[in-house]
Amino acid sequence: MNTLALPAKLSVLFVTSEIYPLVKTGGLADVSAALPAALRHQGMDARILVPGYPQILAAFKIKWVVATGLFEFGEARLLSALLPDSDVPLYIIDCPALYQREGGPYQDNHGNDWVDNALRFALLSRFAALLGSDESPLTWRPDVIHCNDWQAGLAPAYLHYLRGKKAATVMTIHNLAYQGVFPSSLVTQLGLPMESYSMHGVEYFGHLSFLKAGLHYADRITTVSPTYAEEIQDETLGFGMQGLLAQRSDQLSGILNGIDEEQWNPANDRYLGSHFDADHLEGKAECKRALQRRLGLEMNDKLPILAVISRLTHQKGLDLVLEAATDLIKLPTQLAILGSGDSGLELAFRLLAQDHPGKASVTIGYDEGLAHQIEAGADIFLMPSRFEPCGLNQMYSMRYGTPPVVFATGGLADTVVDLTDKTLADSSATGFVFDKMKPSSLAECVKKAVSAYGNKKTWRRLQQNGMSRDFSWDHSAKEYIALYRQLVPD
Ligand code: ADP
Ligand code: GLC
Repeated sequence: MNTLALPAKLSVLFVTSEIYPLVKTGGLADVSAALPAALRHQGMDARILVPGYPQILAAFKIKWVVATGLFEFGEARLLSALLPDSDVPLYIIDCPALYQREGGPYQDNHGNDWVDNALRFALLSRFAALLGSDESPLTWRPDVIHCNDWQAGLAPAYLHYLRGKKAATVMTIHNLAYQGVFPSSLVTQLGLPMESYSMHGVEYFGHLSFLKAGLHYADRITTVSPTYAEEIQDETLGFGMQGLLAQRSDQLSGILNGIDEEQWNPANDRYLGSHFDADHLEGKAECKRALQRRLGLEMNDKLPILAVISRLTHQKGLDLVLEAATDLIKLPTQLAILGSGDSGLELAFRLLAQDHPGKASVTIGYDEGLAHQIEAGADIFLMPSRFEPCGLNQMYSMRYGTPPVVFATGGLADTVVDLTDKTLADSSATGFVFDKMKPSSLAECVKKAVSAYGNKKTWRRLQQNGMSRDFSWDHSAKEYIALYRQLVPD
């Protein structure tokens, strides 16, 4: 007789403000689509809660109304639908006054933050808390509310002040630089008791901070790489939260993100005209030619293409690429850049491309298909981030045989192994790592990469090492389940 009992199914509500492919500004969307699916794959009952932006409401023909109610912020309904392809149940908050508008999830089409962001994401948090409490309108009860970034940060605070049996809470930091800081006068308007407005509560330097609330009230705090979990306890990368994080270090851990190995698979990527894998790299050369054609670069298969796909923000350290550009441009390489964000950086990159036609290409905007084609067609990926909680692009690039050049920080340090004699010999080398945040260090590191590219045997080893690394979500999902289990024992 088999005496092994199956572990009880845990129910998890994953609360997020973005979800791929419907609403995405960065890696959070990718994680929100992949992690709940991976948790379900391992037998957990994971479901997702998202705001009802127009793109989300339009994507689902069949939705069920599961609750209606009047909140401090107006009338809202809770709808339910199934996420395409993965069968993950989705709860959607339908509140037209707050979510039905053209623009991005956080900003209007001119890049200005929505003036009512506090209300918009307090409602997301309020619903999450409700679903985790005895007052829930649903029969389904989550054991764990998994909150992501500041937009879901008030959920643990709301839950703290509700009566009865409550779900445990996990607060995941995807980026500590965004903290959801609003005037303190909103505390009561958002339905929080005045007593919550203290240093041991939602107060943050005289303001209300959604992220601080989450970090204070959640049962556990996680971030998306072990190194970043250490770094944020220090002043340099703690963005003012280092004291609280260090104080809660026993409840803080880093779990590395995975990547969606179906969406990002060079062997059958739907955006590519040719395919390849670690043992058959000929298709990559085809992808390179297609990329050079598409971007108007000189058709030359000898020159390595250096690539960037990124939000153009201070975090990503791309000003270093600009400062090192005179050096980089002299190298026998081409440059392919895709990104959008900071208008100063956009302009500087546009000018760089104008000055070097056929050698440097810059595409300003957001283009999912081109991102896949660059990962596949380029040779070396540049990611000189000042800080990087995890970073997904360096993992995509390793999987696409495009070794990355990265700064030694956060998830970049945890995922990329610098090429040395030793790491080449033991087959662990996957890219190039520099450890001084200076244009000259980046330039040196790129030179080292370009010279390694010249050695066919070394390069192939490096590509194959990266391509055979396992970045699947299964590992991370297991670690999250172990963490949930500490909060909700079997
Ligand atoms: P972050 O979330 O900080 O922006 P990540 O590396 O975790 O960084 O995730 C970035 C995600 O956004 C990746 O999936 C990347 O391919 C995508 N991305 C960023 N900029 C663009 C762009 N301009 N066009 C297409 N995809 C982009
Ligand atoms: C954030 C971080 C990035 C991380 C992503 C998903 O946007 O900047 O490093 O990969 O979240 O966790």
